[in-house]
Amino acid sequence: MSIRTLDDLLAEGVSGRRVLVRADLNVPLDKQSGAITDDGRIRAVLPTLGALVEAGAKVVVCSHLGRPKGAPDPQFSLSPVADRLGELLGAPVHFATDTVGDSARSTVADLADGQVALLENLRFNAGETSKDEAERGAFADQLAAFGDAYVDDAFGAVHRKHASVYDVPARLPHVAGRLVLREVEVLSKLTSEPERPYVVVLGGSKVSDKLAVIEALLPTVDRLLIGGGMCFTFLKAQGLEVGTSLLEKDMVETCRNLLERADGKILLPVDVVVADAFAPDAAHDTVRVDGIPSHRLGLDIGPETVAGFAAALSQAKTIFWNGPMGVFEMAAFAAGTRGVAEAITKADAFSVVGGGDSAAAVRALGLDESSFGHISTGGGASLEYLEGKTLPGIAALEN
Ligand code: 3PG
Ligand code: MG
Repeated sequence: MSIRTLDDLLAEGVSGRRVLVRADLNVPLDKQSGAITDDGRIRAVLPTLGALVEAGAKVVVCSHLGRPKGAPDPQFSLSPVADRLGELLGAPVHFATDTVGDSARSTVADLADGQVALLENLRFNAGETSKDEAERGAFADQLAAFGDAYVDDAFGAVHRKHASVYDVPARLPHVAGRLVLREVEVLSKLTSEPERPYVVVLGGSKVSDKLAVIEALLPTVDRLLIGGGMCFTFLKAQGLEVGTSLLEKDMVETCRNLLERADGKILLPVDVVVADAFAPDAAHDTVRVDGIPSHRLGLDIGPETVAGFAAALSQAKTIFWNGPMGVFEMAAFAAGTRGVAEAITKADAFSVVGGGDSAAAVRALGLDESSFGHISTGGGASLEYLEGKTLPGIAALEN
């Protein structure tokens, strides 16, 4: 790989130099209180930031949070993230209340060696996500002015052709941070020579989101287990009735075609938990997939399905999992996700959990993170990597 790394940069010496770090601090926030509900992505960038602090760099961190529309929007402020980052680093983080304005300029100028600043949300600026090269470039110029070197440690955003990911590295000496390096190392193992059997578990609500990765994985995997909301479109494709469950009608034909080509590799649920409504206290029962009542909707996979999936996983030597098996946020519909996650931890396999949601599920269910081989910080990014797509953020580092 022709990518320079953080170690190369540290070997040159960074003491007193300003290092601009693109991180993915896009953490989930509680809708009511605004509190950070899962700080996994903040912790994931600590090894890179810690090394730069120790080496005496002036560390300027930037990130997006949520999807604000190119203008300041207080509900997407990175201010609570600055506080949490400071707690984890054990030193205050200097927070700029804008991204490239007066506050950012003075915050960066005032940094002492070994101190850390965080700029306000990149997406408060239209230039960050613009499709217009010139508009993105102008914003990238402003960002690049804050660094003598650039470190990309935002794995969760490498699939975005955004100013801070794609255009800034064209303007500064650039390297991959520790997190990006580790993620690419792990995922490249899955695409090059996975130890077999290689079993992939996919969940989540939409087939359309996962279609490209299913197409790409089918020839490579030994088993593909499908749960979550998207399993109902596959069940429909098998000619079953799915009641009021989530259904992508225009994907039924595609699913039928995938099943035909899958050579028996795809495993679908045999039982599901159906409820009267999408609510934590809705009346619910477990039924076989050929007995889903017309007025009820499936919100989780059933116990027999979990047992079948667990049996397939117990044989595996390599596992990739993306997407919950049911509405795990509601206790009544969490057993499927928990059961599959536990089966993955018990398997004598190298396991990779891909995706912000699946990683958050692991922590929300109180599972031991260290019993997984790797928990990726990237959802879309890890899927696009497995699809074999060119990731703009990685390509920019290779140049
Ligand atoms: C994510 O949460 O998937 C990453 O932070 C990227 O965010 P985005 O999908 O809004 O670009
Ligand atoms: Mg996303």
